[in-house]
Amino acid sequence: MALILGIESSCDETAAAVVRDGEELLSNVVSSQIATHLPYGGVVPELASREHLRAIVPVVRQAAAEAGIQLEQVDAFAVTQGPGLAGSLLVGITYAKALAFALNKPLIAVNHLEGHIHAVLLEQRRQQGEELPLPALALIVSGGHTHLYEVTRSPQGHWEYRNVGRTLDDAAGEAFDKVAKLLALSYPGGPIIEKLSTRGNPRAFPMPASQIKARQKSRVDPEAEPTYDFSFSGLKTAVLRFVETHAMQDVIERRRKALTGISNPQAEDFLPHLDQLTLDLLASFQEAVVQDLLRKTLRATTELESESLIVSGGVASNSRLREEFVRAASHNGLPVFFPSRALSTDNAAMIAAAAYPKLMAGEFADEHLSAEASLRLG
Ligand code: KG4
Ligand code: ZN
Repeated sequence: MALILGIESSCDETAAAVVRDGEELLSNVVSSQIATHLPYGGVVPELASREHLRAIVPVVRQAAAEAGIQLEQVDAFAVTQGPGLAGSLLVGITYAKALAFALNKPLIAVNHLEGHIHAVLLEQRRQQGEELPLPALALIVSGGHTHLYEVTRSPQGHWEYRNVGRTLDDAAGEAFDKVAKLLALSYPGGPIIEKLSTRGNPRAFPMPASQIKARQKSRVDPEAEPTYDFSFSGLKTAVLRFVETHAMQDVIERRRKALTGISNPQAEDFLPHLDQLTLDLLASFQEAVVQDLLRKTLRATTELESESLIVSGGVASNSRLREEFVRAASHNGLPVFFPSRALSTDNAAMIAAAAYPKLMAGEFADEHLSAEASLRLG
């Protein structure tokens, strides 16, 4: 039996979790900073580091207490090395290093994106007692990332990842957040746009699909593999144009003023200040993001002959996205796997789960481990 305590602090959640044998969650504590960043409509890096510093010790203690263990009992500590905000990552890394050193335990560095993939692998293993069919295609779709990976496993049991697509500009979650900010809705934008979209018509205003085609085998390097890239900044600009051409600024400003007194506004607070035009715009925007993600991901699964599909990251908690991916995947006879909603957004259970095969293989970090803001996977 192996106990791993994972720590995650790459963006705006301070999280710690204890996972047994890479599959059983003994605790999963997440302290969110949403209230801190809400007035700014996005994550403010300096504030994020300060909040991590405040939260890290109590969050780790709570994770150990909820798991019913003493820190001395863990077999290893695992921590997110990157990608993410450098100052935020450093808080988790410094504390994990100090714990590992003080308690004489190994320290394991985990890529945050690998964590999002293991959020799904962990639950699948737990529920079915076996791995999902490989090779899998993984779509990681969050506020910082929109990446496609081909996931395989070596005969020695190492998980391997090949990046086959990424966003060339904004991440999908970032587009949700920016559109929400533009329309004076709350932060993060995804959950509120999802709720309000149920009141709008997704076919009211067709949005431009991003024009990036799968890069074909290049003439310069005929051996290069084709990739499946995304772009969401055009969609964000289309919403901005729509706001301008429909003279919506005054209504937006009135909404902003009306909502300023409410600390954590919900859909019901916004609804009296939203006209049908805006609700239709939100539904059409969400539909465009979902259909773009779906189209490119499905093409990749067909061309790469994937045996299963993993969809993970904050945006993967979107109900419309889940509905559409399930419908299309079942049409294609492809099993699709999502994390439970609790493991869709940033958490440390996924970091501890991703660390388990590294513990088995003895892949440990040394005392020089540092934050890698732009760390790549695969
Ligand atoms: O994975 P995550 O917690 O943090 C990052 O690694 O970025 O994802 C947060 C992102 C935010 O951009 C948020 O707007 C988006 O995920 N998000 C959603 C939903 N819930 C969170 N986007 C669309 N629909 C949702 N229900
Ligand atoms: Zn994430």
